[in-house]
Amino acid sequence: MAKASTVVVLLLISLFHQLCANAIVLRISENNHRFYLAKTQETFKFADLQLLQAQLDATNCQYECERLVLDAATGSTLLQLNFDSRNPATVYDLLPQQSSEKNKVEVDDTLPPSLARCEWIAEVIAFGSNASNLVKSLQEHNNGKGIAIENCTGWAIDYIRMVDKEGSANDIPKLGYTLKPLLCAIAQNIRAPASLDASCASEQLVAIETLHHGIYMGRIISRSGSPTGTAHLSCWSKRPFQYSSAIHPVVAEIVIEMLFDLVEHPVEPDGAIRILDPTCGSGTFLAFALASGRRRVHVEGWDVNPQCVQGTKQNLGYCFGEDSVSSRCRVRVRDSSIVPLVQESGDLPLKIDCVVSNLPWGQNTIDYVDQNLNILKALKRQLKPGTPCIFVHKDALLSNSKPLARLGYSIIGEATVPPPNFALPKSRKKRTSSSKDADGPTSTRPQRITVTRTLS
Ligand SMILES: C[S@@+](CC[C@H](N)C(=O)[O-])C[C@H]1O[C@@H](n2cnc3c(N)ncnc32)[C@H](O)[C@@H]1O
Repeated sequence: MAKASTVVVLLLISLFHQLCANAIVLRISENNHRFYLAKTQETFKFADLQLLQAQLDATNCQYECERLVLDAATGSTLLQLNFDSRNPATVYDLLPQQSSEKNKVEVDDTLPPSLARCEWIAEVIAFGSNASNLVKSLQEHNNGKGIAIENCTGWAIDYIRMVDKEGSANDIPKLGYTLKPLLCAIAQNIRAPASLDASCASEQLVAIETLHHGIYMGRIISRSGSPTGTAHLSCWSKRPFQYSSAIHPVVAEIVIEMLFDLVEHPVEPDGAIRILDPTCGSGTFLAFALASGRRRVHVEGWDVNPQCVQGTKQNLGYCFGEDSVSSRCRVRVRDSSIVPLVQESGDLPLKIDCVVSNLPWGQNTIDYVDQNLNILKALKRQLKPGTPCIFVHKDALLSNSKPLARLGYSIIGEATVPPPNFALPKSRKKRTSSSKDADGPTSTRPQRITVTRTLS
C-alpha cells in the first residue's frame, strides 16, 4: 500500500515536473503568477527600477518588477519579479549561463546589470502573511504532506529579516514564531533530506521576513556570493577536546533555542537561565547555551567520565575565556543515573530551569539496557514539575509516551535528526536497505529529539 502510494506520488511529481519544467514540484502560488524575489546588496533607486523594467520588457518575458522592501538597516532592497504563468518562459531565460551542474546557476554580465549585482534571485514557493500562516499553509499543502523538492540531495535554509523604514522592533513578536522554531516548523514540512552543511546542499532555500508584506519562502536559483547557512559558534570547530560522540553543532544550536523558548519562570530573580546537561561529553550543548545571545545563562554539566569533564572545561575555557567559565559554568564528574544521598547544592529540587541531554545508550546496547531510563528516573526526582527537558537519543522506548509518562515526563514535541550521511556529495553511493542493516544497528540510525516537561 505504502509502495503503491509512493509510485502514484512519484508519477504525479514527474507529470507536474514535465508540465512546469521547473525544479520545484509543488508550489504554493497566489493567483496565476509565479513570482521571484531578488535581493540586492545596495539601495535600489526608482530610476534603477525603471531601467530594469525596460530591460525586462525587452526580453519579451512579460515580467513586472517592483520594489518590495528597502531594508532600513543595510540599505539592501528586495525586488519582486512577477511573471505571468501563461507565458512559457521563466526567469531562467534571464540567466544566460547555466552551469552543467543542476541548479548551480551563475549570474554573468549579460543579465540586466542590476540583477547581476543581486545577492540572489529566488523562486517563491510558499508565502504567509505572517510566520504562523506560512507554517499553516505548508502543513496543509499537498494534503498535509508538505512541499516536495525534486532531485534534492540535501537542502539548507537561510533566513533574512528585512525591516523597512516604517517597521519597528515592537512589530516583530506579531509574527508568531521566533527564528529557530520557525525554521524547524518549515523543515518539518519539506519532503526532501535536510543538510546541515550548506555548502553540500543541492538546494538553497531562503525564508525572507518582511514586516509589512509577510514571510516568503524561496528557492534560490541564482546567487552571486557563497551560501551562508546557519551561523554557529566559529571557535567550536577548533576546540581542544574533540569527542567522537559529540552532537552536531547545528543540532545543538537549534535544540538550545527550542529549549530556552520553553522556559517560563527562571529560578534566578534576575531572569538568568540555569541549564543542566547531565551527560555533557565534550560540552557542545553547554557551549551553545553560553553562546546564545538572548539571555544570561548559567550552565551545569555532569559526566561520569572524568576525561569528558576535563575536556568540557577546556572547550568552554577556549571559547569563552577562563574567567567567564568560572563565573557561569559548573562542570563535574557525576553519575547521572544515581540521586546523591546528600545534595551538594542544598535541598531538592535542583536550581535548574531546563535540561538537555544527548543520552548515551542506544537501542542495542544490551549491557546498559536500563541506563537511559535510570538517568531519566534520577533526574526526575531532582527537578521541579514542569521543567522542560530535551533528550536527543536513539532509544525507541523514549519516543513512546507511555514509558516516559511512567518515568514522570510528558512529551510535547518530537523530531528526527537527519542521519550522518544525509548530506553526502552527489557522487557518493546511495544507501540501500540492505547496506543500512549491514552498517550496524544504532550507528547509522537517525537520532530522535524528544521534547518533554516533567510531570508533577
Ligand atoms: C553521546 S555522549 C554526549 C556527547 C555530548 N552531547 C557532546 O556533544 O559532546 C554521552 C555521554 O554520556 C556520558 N555518560 C554515560 N553514562 C553516564 C552516566 N550514568 N552519568 C553521566 N554521564 C554518563 C558518557 O561519558 C558520554 O560522554
